[in-house]
Amino acid sequence: MTIKEEQKKIIEAATKFARAFHENDVTGHDWWHIHRVVAMTERLAKEEGADQFVSLIAALLHDVADEKLNDSKEAGIRNVEDWMLSQQIGTEDREHVIEIISRMSYNGGKNPPMRTLEGKVVQDADRLDAIGAIAIARCFLYAGFTGDQIYDPSLAPREMMTKEEYRNGKSTAINHFYEKLLKLKDRINTVSGKRIAEERHRFMANYLEQFHLEWDGRV
Ligand code: ADP
Ligand code: NI
Repeated sequence: MTIKEEQKKIIEAATKFARAFHENDVTGHDWWHIHRVVAMTERLAKEEGADQFVSLIAALLHDVADEKLNDSKEAGIRNVEDWMLSQQIGTEDREHVIEIISRMSYNGGKNPPMRTLEGKVVQDADRLDAIGAIAIARCFLYAGFTGDQIYDPSLAPREMMTKEEYRNGKSTAINHFYEKLLKLKDRINTVSGKRIAEERHRFMANYLEQFHLEWDGRV
């Protein structure tokens, strides 16, 4: 589905809005994360035949509503809603974008699954940014931000954890791979996304193998 002229203008406005919102973020939700998710969304939407406009708007705004960057999840959603109301976006598209964004986050895998192809595409694009070479960099950046260490062999990766433990419990950057990043490839919705996830997953697995060998002074 191609994009109409007036939709292009709304996408440009959404880009400006998201860029201003994320400009100074240091929590792994900086503007370049959004930029990459948008680029991947564009690719997946084409490959999967999803509506480009809804997918791109949802990708651009998905972290504007992030719970961690707002007073509450509801406040985040309201922020996105208010912005969309200030634009010429039809009710149906607005509701669709809100539905996608409210189901987006990983939330320990507890959110309801994406209902629409557009939602599946945007969620895949977001998850793909947490798998692979860039994901490794984001993980260590985030760990540094929260004061976690690179690795501590005395701290085992946690199997089950509450949302509170996931956010605030003591862990390490390397444990985060086992607690979340290596699980993501099995949570990809689309065939095109899955192909990319598998390649990136392999890269991360190789990285971890090398990491552990170096840790023990074996290579
Ligand atoms: P999302 O908003 O996509 O659900 P998060 O807010 O959980 O993602 O994480 C943003 C980035 O920071 C991701 O790349 C994620 O892997 C990384 N990250 C999140 N929690 C941790 C953690 N405890 N240790 C290291 N990296 C983390
Ligand atoms: Ni995101």
